[in-house]
Amino acid sequence: MSQDPASSDRGYHRPVLVDEVVQLLTPVIPGVVVDATFGGGGHSHRLLNEFGEDVTVIAVDRDPDALRNARGMGLTVVQGNFGELAEVVAPMTERPISAVLFDFGVSSHQLDEPERGFSYRHDGPLDMRMGPDAARTAADIVNEWPEADLTGIIRRFGEEPMAPRIARAIVVGRPYESTRQVAAVIAEALPAARRRAGHPARRTFQAIRIAVNNELDAVASGLDQALEMIQPSGRVIAISYHSLEDRIVKRRFAQGARGCVCPPDLPVCGCGRAAELRVLTRKPIRPTADEITRNNRARSAMLRAVEKVAS
Ligand SMILES: C[S@@+](CC[C@H](N)C(=O)[O-])C[C@H]1O[C@@H](n2cnc3c(N)ncnc32)[C@H](O)[C@@H]1O
Repeated sequence: MSQDPASSDRGYHRPVLVDEVVQLLTPVIPGVVVDATFGGGGHSHRLLNEFGEDVTVIAVDRDPDALRNARGMGLTVVQGNFGELAEVVAPMTERPISAVLFDFGVSSHQLDEPERGFSYRHDGPLDMRMGPDAARTAADIVNEWPEADLTGIIRRFGEEPMAPRIARAIVVGRPYESTRQVAAVIAEALPAARRRAGHPARRTFQAIRIAVNNELDAVASGLDQALEMIQPSGRVIAISYHSLEDRIVKRRFAQGARGCVCPPDLPVCGCGRAAELRVLTRKPIRPTADEITRNNRARSAMLRAVEKVAS
C-alpha cells in the first residue's frame, strides 16, 4: 500500500482522533509534548507535520517494537511504563512540559501479531505482555491462578457477566499453551446465544490482558504524574477504549476541576480549595461515522482533555 508522506497512518497502527488531538494541542505550541503511548507513532508524526520545529516530542512506550517506529523521526525516545511517567521523562528534558498525550490500550500491531498472544482470532503463545517489564504472562494467569482470582479479573476487567462459568471452564481445561486453546474453552463454556453476539472470548481476553499488564493502575498513576508534570496552561489528553479506562480519566479530571467543596449554605468559603484543572471536553469526543468507516478500531474511542489552571 503506498503511503501519503503526510499521512499519520504508518501501517503499524492507524491513529484515532488525530485532527481533534492537533486542535487541542495547538494552544500549547511551541512546546514539549510527551507522547506517552507512542505505538506506531501516528499522533507524533502528525504533530511533527503540523507544527514542525515548534514541537519537541518525547516518545514513550513499554514496547520496544513500537519504539523502532521512531527511527529517523528526530524524536527523543524512551522505553518505559507511563505508570512511572515522571521517572521515565525526567532524564529526557529540562524544559517545561506543555502537554501529555495518552492513547491507551494495544496497538493494531500488537493485536495482529500472533506471536504477541493478544488475539483470540489468531493462534499464538499465551503472552500478552506489552513490554518486557510486565510481571507475568497470560500463561501464568490461565495455568496457575486460582479459580476465584480468575473469576475476579474476568468480572472486573472484562465486565463479563458469565465470569464464574468461564473461570471454572478454564481451570478444568488446564494446561494451555496457545491462545486458540483458551479461546475454544471459553466459547465452549458459553451458551449458543452468546456465541452469536460477537466473539465469546473478547471480554475474557481483555481481562487477562489488563491483568498481565496491570493496565488500570498504570492509567491512574500515569494521569496523576502527567497532571503534576505539565506547566500551568499545559494540557493532558487521554483516549480510552473501554469504560474502565474512561471512568478513571473522567473521575481524575473531575476531581481536579472541583473548586470549593464547602456546603452550599456556608456564607464564606472555609476550605480554601481552588480548581487545579479546567475540563476542555464536557462529554468525551468520539470519532465521526466517517472515521469509524475508515478505521473500525476507532469505534470505541473516547477522548477527554484538561488544561492546568495557571496558578
Ligand atoms: C493504541 S496504541 C497507541 C497508538 C499511537 N497513538 C499511534 O498513533 O500509533 C497504545 C500503545 O501504548 C503502549 N502502552 C500501553 N500501556 C502502556 C504503559 N503503561 N506504558 C507505556 N506504554 C504503554 C502500547 O504498547 C501501545 O504501543
